[in-house]
Amino acid sequence: MKSDQHRGSIVITGSSTGIGRACSLLLDSMGFTVFAGVRNQADGDALIKGSSGPLTPIILDVTDDDSIRRSAEFVASSVGEKGLAGLVNNAGIVVTGPLEFIRKDDLWEQFHVNLMGQVAVTQAFLPLLKKCKGRIVNITSIGGRQSVPFMGPYCASKAAMEVLSDSLRMELRPFDLPVIIVTPGNISTPIWSKTRKISEQRTHELATKVRNLYGASLDLVLKASAKMEKSGIDPIAVARVVAHALTTGKPKTRYIVGWDARLQIVMSKVLPDWIRDYIVLRFIGLASSRKNYKGGADG
Ligand SMILES: NC(=O)c1ccc[n+]([C@@H]2O[C@H](COP(=O)([O-])OP(=O)(O)OC[C@H]3O[C@@H](n4cnc5c(N)ncnc54)[C@H](OP(=O)(O)O)[C@@H]3O)[C@@H](O)[C@H]2O)c1
Repeated sequence: MKSDQHRGSIVITGSSTGIGRACSLLLDSMGFTVFAGVRNQADGDALIKGSSGPLTPIILDVTDDDSIRRSAEFVASSVGEKGLAGLVNNAGIVVTGPLEFIRKDDLWEQFHVNLMGQVAVTQAFLPLLKKCKGRIVNITSIGGRQSVPFMGPYCASKAAMEVLSDSLRMELRPFDLPVIIVTPGNISTPIWSKTRKISEQRTHELATKVRNLYGASLDLVLKASAKMEKSGIDPIAVARVVAHALTTGKPKTRYIVGWDARLQIVMSKVLPDWIRDYIVLRFIGLASSRKNYKGGADG
């Protein structure tokens, strides 16, 4: 779908793999000038190989203020007064573990990448976005709407990002600068294998007492994540929604991607919490845990 029409410039964080990569290549093929955030040169070179347009990788670590500042300066000098047509806040990691023992550093890392980093990047690029009445697309997750066990840090970071995006949308309304939330369900990307690798290492480091209490449950969660990786849809589905959000005349405030995500939202509206919990735990293989809540007006 190569287009010769120049449609403006876009910055995308976390473009090395998965959804960010799919967004970068799709928007590049549509005629946007894409500045694709990666954390090393090799990932940037691989992106250039896959691209058909003038895609430019930029070294952008969302937790590193210097890296954000350098990226913003580089993009500013490249786009000049034309500014930016869009920023896609996509970079993300998943931290897993039992909340009873989660380390403060791990929780901090989760929020640093998935929340504080996105805010810092948004602040750095807002002057360029204002020049061209650009759009901000924030990639959240169905996990931020429907929490699951042992992924509390991740789900909390995505819930926070949803709420923060709502505030930002209202704050930027006077500038005519839309903020759009894209909430994917289960997408087949390397995020799950990356998470498993780190989680296995963390589980290994846990004290025997913690492993005895939670080790078996954590193993089941990691197995479920492998199942999800296989059954997820292609990241191009998210990229198409992002492209639509950036190009349609009047974007919606939020888009949900994937039937599983839509189903979970319906479930959350119609089912009491204890039934939803049971369905989630059953999927993971933890359904034998005891039910000890009463159904009621709120759950
Ligand atoms: N896959 C799903 O099922 C799913 C569902 C809902 C939402 N999401 C969200 O979609 C987004 C993209 O995830 P994905 O599934 O495409 O996973 P992915 O393939 O692992 O992509 C994550 C990207 O974020 C980058 N990243 C990690 N830490 C970073 C940092 N400190 N600074 C800058 N970039 C960083 C990674 O770079 P490196 O390669 O250098 O680590 C990678 O490019 C995430 O926000 C994720 O939470 C994914």
